[in-house]
Amino acid sequence: MKRFGLVLLLMCIVGSKKVPQRIVDSWINMVKPFQEVCGKTYGISSELARDVLINANPPNERSYQCYSSCIIREVGYLTHNRIFNITVLMEKVPFIPQELIRRCVPDAASDDDLCEKSYKNLNCLLQGMAED
Ligand SMILES: *[C@@H]1O[C@H](CO)[C@@H](O)[C@H](O)[C@H]1NC(C)=O
Repeated sequence: MKRFGLVLLLMCIVGSKKVPQRIVDSWINMVKPFQEVCGKTYGISSELARDVLINANPPNERSYQCYSSCIIREVGYLTHNRIFNITVLMEKVPFIPQELIRRCVPDAASDDDLCEKSYKNLNCLLQGMAED
């Protein structure tokens, strides 16, 4: 019982983390031109996309995974050669710590599909940016 309470408390603390406003604004600005096409294709509304960013809680579902892949490909962060070009992200969202961007780039050898790979990268970035 005591342990259950502690787990609940920890979940509340984790759940209250938020991504700083300036990063959210900057990211949304980057995504804006592509929200229409990616959002329509994968059924992700701009409200959901925004909520995910603010609360750093990307749903681990195929539709969201592929939406995130669509967005970062359109932005040019994920290249045609399946490379994550960190320069692109550093230029477009300058508030993300460079060290975090580097740390979140997936291992080139990992053979995840692009949707999964993109999702993991985004989730890593969001968890690293979220603050109490
Ligand atoms: C990454 O993007 C930058 C800026 O757009 C570009 O100059 C550079 O050539 C790209 N690098 C790769 C490996 O694609």
